[in-house]
Amino acid sequence: MTTPMSQTALLLELEAVVEKNLDRHLSMAKEWFPHEYVPWSEGRTFDGPLGGEAWAESDSTIPDVARTALIVNLLTEDNLPSYHHEIATLFGRDGAWGNWVHRWTAEEGRHGTAIRDYLTVTRAVDPVALERARMTHMSAGYTNAHGDEVLHSLAYVSFQELATRISHRNTGRVTGDPACEALLARVAADENLHMVFYRNLLAAAFELAPSQAMRAVADVLADFQMPGVGIDGFARKSVAIALAGIYDLRQHRDDVVVPVLRQWDVFSVTGLNGDGEAARDQIARHLDDLEQAAARFEEKRAARSARLATLR
Ligand SMILES: [Fe+2]
Ligand SMILES: [Fe+2]
Repeated sequence: MTTPMSQTALLLELEAVVEKNLDRHLSMAKEWFPHEYVPWSEGRTFDGPLGGEAWAESDSTIPDVARTALIVNLLTEDNLPSYHHEIATLFGRDGAWGNWVHRWTAEEGRHGTAIRDYLTVTRAVDPVALERARMTHMSAGYTNAHGDEVLHSLAYVSFQELATRISHRNTGRVTGDPACEALLARVAADENLHMVFYRNLLAAAFELAPSQAMRAVADVLADFQMPGVGIDGFARKSVAIALAGIYDLRQHRDDVVVPVLRQWDVFSVTGLNGDGEAARDQIARHLDDLEQAAARFEEKRAARSARLATLR
């Protein structure tokens, strides 16, 4: 039996793959500017030192659940310093890994800037509550559940970037505001490229250390949570977001987990040791469990809409 590769060996072996995929990323990423996506002429001065008008619920007509999703998405983007710390500590700041870490951080920073500008100018959400939520959320920080393991972190971000892409996309749709939809579609396109980068790296890891890669995927799926999990009221917000079809268990299973697993072709990987095989069995069971949970949720949601319809 071969001994597992150390974290350092994995980083070294994957460096060339990082370099190749960073080049690919840079050739595909489109430059874009947050200010072009914000309808500045709709803006009005707020109360406070400048003596404008305080925010009121009636300032914006976007649906409540869209506000909730926008807040969750923005607070998630806001926590970037913690994510940067996590990946810079694990992947390092040198060579191709460091170049990726910094580039990724710069792109994610653009997302928070753009969404905040949009929300503030359009008065879509209460800016005081938003700022307080940002302070609370960032003060708590973020730690990755498997933050000291390279392959676990790569597996996590492969799923998480795709989940974030879907969530941004669907949030844009639910706002009913074409400007917001265009902005979030632009952000979602970035998240997709991030997902492809990480997914390609883990694909290379499957060649290099198949059993370790399989274990990483199984562990990450078992306790997967979105990075916004620490947001105040996250459980309640997630239910609202799921009920609105912005991000629910069905999408998590069918549009995030399954397509990524398919790209890695996990059920055809060869050369696994005992633990690698056990990890793969665990993944298969997890997919079955997710299927049941997603079906249960869909039933409940359908029953709820039927109940609401009779009340109208
Ligand atoms: Fe982002
Ligand atoms: Fe991203």
